[in-house]
Amino acid sequence: MRLDKFLGITGCCTRTEAKKLIRSGGVTVNGIPASAADSKIDPETDVIVFCGKPVVYRKYTYILMNKPQGVVSATEDGRDRTVLDLLPADMKKSGLFPCGRLDKNTVGLILLTDNGELGHRLLAPKSHVKKTYYFHSKFPISAEDAKRFSSGLILEDGYETKPAGIELEETGDCGVITLVEGKYHQIKRMLEALDNKITYLERISFGPLTLDRDLNRGDWRYLTAEEIAELEKH
Ligand code: URA
Repeated sequence: MRLDKFLGITGCCTRTEAKKLIRSGGVTVNGIPASAADSKIDPETDVIVFCGKPVVYRKYTYILMNKPQGVVSATEDGRDRTVLDLLPADMKKSGLFPCGRLDKNTVGLILLTDNGELGHRLLAPKSHVKKTYYFHSKFPISAEDAKRFSSGLILEDGYETKPAGIELEETGDCGVITLVEGKYHQIKRMLEALDNKITYLERISFGPLTLDRDLNRGDWRYLTAEEIAELEKH
């Protein structure tokens, strides 16, 4: 594998940054400063040191993003900006895809990965991966409606939702919703079934991952080793 690609996929830096750093002698391969970004390395056996720290090789890339409004959860779109458009150009073609969908106006946590098998597993209905959302609704939700919400609602297409969690703040028009499934526009449609309307929706967790408040909307970071280990338990 090319050295710059290796540094990119392990999350040390982008491939463009890697090229500059290699030129300035900041990367060693088996103790020898690397001279070219396109040097071939074996990720399994070579010891790569980046800015003084050994680099741990991972086969897959995992990115936690704080999705802003107005961006679609897709790999490409003819009209709107996608979550992939928020990554540096040299990362866009690396097979990354958003693991699950958030509506264009929904903000918050979205996982991007190139691990198709894990992505598939996390999204499979039988996995029941827990997702939590902070929401605001147009009208307060009564205790009776909250009960209907949590015991399962019939949506406009006849689908009966699985029991969901809802914790309301005192005003009744905001709080946290927990789902273990992910039907199209699910929360919006659940509120519509209660003759109400979602006015703000932010995903705050996905399985073991929680939204990183150090990330501004549109920012992203690589998952930590601990986060990856937790995710892989699913
Ligand atoms: N439910 C919705 O209605 N929209 C989302 O983006 C996520 C869950």
